[in-house]
Amino acid sequence: MENSINGLKVYTSGNKNNQAIIFIHGFPHDHRMWDYQVEDLKEDYFCVTYDIRGLGESYIGDGQYTMEAFVWDLYSVIDELQIEKPIICGLSMGGYISFRAVEKEQERFAGLILCDTRAEDDSNEGKLIRSNSINKINVEGVESFVNDFVPKCFHPQTPEKLSEMYERTLEISKSQNSLGVKGALFAMLSRGNTTDSLKDIKIPTLVLVGRKDALTPPKTMKKIAKKIKKSKFHIVPKAGHMAPLENPEFVNEKIKLFLTKNFSDEK
Ligand code: MLT
Repeated sequence: MENSINGLKVYTSGNKNNQAIIFIHGFPHDHRMWDYQVEDLKEDYFCVTYDIRGLGESYIGDGQYTMEAFVWDLYSVIDELQIEKPIICGLSMGGYISFRAVEKEQERFAGLILCDTRAEDDSNEGKLIRSNSINKINVEGVESFVNDFVPKCFHPQTPEKLSEMYERTLEISKSQNSLGVKGALFAMLSRGNTTDSLKDIKIPTLVLVGRKDALTPPKTMKKIAKKIKKSKFHIVPKAGHMAPLENPEFVNEKIKLFLTKNFSDEK
């Protein structure tokens, strides 16, 4: 079902009485990033996906976004759909939103699934890279930026082995609005560091990372998992930074195991 909430395009699948999972996509993608997970989980869970402000079909506005505003957007989805204690599942930028949402109000959530993300804010070098990306978009347009950035997110063999999914993902990214993409870059560049609050996360957490993730590598995510008390860590084979798209079988299996272990009545 499609909903419009606070200018965001929100999609729901499954029975509302089941445990809710809210999936938050990475940059510069949209809710379709989670198609393989929703398809597999909607029988047993209430699955919610949405387009982050400025991306997909959500409202673009003036392109002036912050990570905090992205978190308010997440809260507005939860409130409007009247979801009690969802599990949030975020990839990379979606993970940045998840970390901050949990840091602010952990009691609102039942669990956390983190894919290919990091808790630190951007280093000085990272900020310069983002600034150069904004400049590149101003001068050459979104397509040129996407052609540079998105291929680096995948396992080196994915373009050949999963060419249909790869091309589709690239096309979705290229079709994004330049104001929205620059706004997301700025929100990431100016976000805070959530590392200190990792030790305070008490909800069950699943940490997944592609073996060949060049942006948020396994060693970065292992450190995150070590700091979160109730966490389970898995390296996803045959995957780069886009693990849920590159190896959905493995990712879905680990998610289902995590859910059954922590959230099923029979546990
Ligand atoms: C993402 O996948 O969301 C991006 O790689 C995040 C980032 O650029 O920091």
